[in-house]
Amino acid sequence: MSWESEVRDLFPQLKRQVNGRRLVYLDSGATTLKPVPVIAAVNAHFTNEAANVHRGAHTLSDEATGKYEEARERVRGFVGADSHEEIVFTKGTTDGINLLAQTLGRTVLNEGDEVIVSQMEHHSNIVPWQMIALEKKAKVRFVPVLEDGSLDFEAFKKMLSPKVKIVSLVHLSNALGTINPLKQFFAAAHAVNAVCVTDAAQSISLLPLLAKDLNTDFLVFSGHKIFAPTGVGVLYGRREWLDKLPPYQGGGSMIAQVTEEGTTYLGTPHRFEAGTPAIAEVIGLGEALKLVQSLGFAEIQKHERLIVGLAEDALAKIEGVKIYGTAQPRGHLVSFVLQGSHPADVGAILNEQGIAIRAGHHCCQPLMKRFGIPGTNRASFSIYSTEADVQDFIAGVKKAKELLS
Ligand code: ALA
Repeated sequence: MSWESEVRDLFPQLKRQVNGRRLVYLDSGATTLKPVPVIAAVNAHFTNEAANVHRGAHTLSDEATGKYEEARERVRGFVGADSHEEIVFTKGTTDGINLLAQTLGRTVLNEGDEVIVSQMEHHSNIVPWQMIALEKKAKVRFVPVLEDGSLDFEAFKKMLSPKVKIVSLVHLSNALGTINPLKQFFAAAHAVNAVCVTDAAQSISLLPLLAKDLNTDFLVFSGHKIFAPTGVGVLYGRREWLDKLPPYQGGGSMIAQVTEEGTTYLGTPHRFEAGTPAIAEVIGLGEALKLVQSLGFAEIQKHERLIVGLAEDALAKIEGVKIYGTAQPRGHLVSFVLQGSHPADVGAILNEQGIAIRAGHHCCQPLMKRFGIPGTNRASFSIYSTEADVQDFIAGVKKAKELLS
């Protein structure tokens, strides 16, 4: 498939104009655009079935259930899980980590215990742990980030002790682009019997995430960052761990029996999926993963590295631009500050030219504090990004520099 035409043709959003200019969409780290097969699958569910799953004694419900469980099976293969019972559908990464904080955290944390996260975590991998830690009188500790945007492994090793019960780390930083060597971190964490959690929100669309290769006990991601609709995500958990966890939310579809005296629960994954799920969105996720599999991660990585590399090189040549995050290996984004200007102003000037980037703290306030800045501008790329996008983006940054200096 050609990146310039066939891949871009799959994304109707790219045909629109913004402020009279062609859309240059460089905010895929916030959410990816949605391809025709995903839109069609969501549409087809509402057009043909629109029925609930796991409940009806009728054809429409059977068909919807079939598609829903087919998507679960596709996710299983995608993350290399042993069984579809290790795949729980959530609302997204944030929901997955909250689920873990409230079930795993509640199960393993006691007074004086520790949860380790890092200074580069998104707030969604900090706040849920702080909430349960407060309740359990446990502590959340942060692995320091080095100047180049990598995690300080030596400092991490010194933080490890039998008090550490959970280590929850981001795989690919949404604010720096760093790809963390989680396998190495998790081997050290497992040596003190800590449970390991991977925030794969950004890496899911770029790296083959075979949970066993990462040596992780849990892994969470959102559908909307891999071409699927919003409102759906995945929690992968090793079977032996999921079996030990209490339910997250109570309601229909997660019970074995309810009496006036009490309730018994289904096993995993249904125990964690109370209520009517995001059926169309799950079906859309299955379709999105199919597309990624058909392109192949080797090709996706080659394409995105080429494009991001061009952007990094060109940005580095603009006087007054400072790039945050230079450690290798790197993902699909570049974070930078145009010295003497506010990121929001740079974002607004680029938007006037049809160029969409993100400006701000990227939900990573501890990281911004670490670097002593209020925020950055971030350009994030995807399978539909092109060299022409990079050229327009660089011209936009030069124009912002001219207007703001
Ligand atoms: N977490 C998303 C981002 O990095 C929203 O932009």
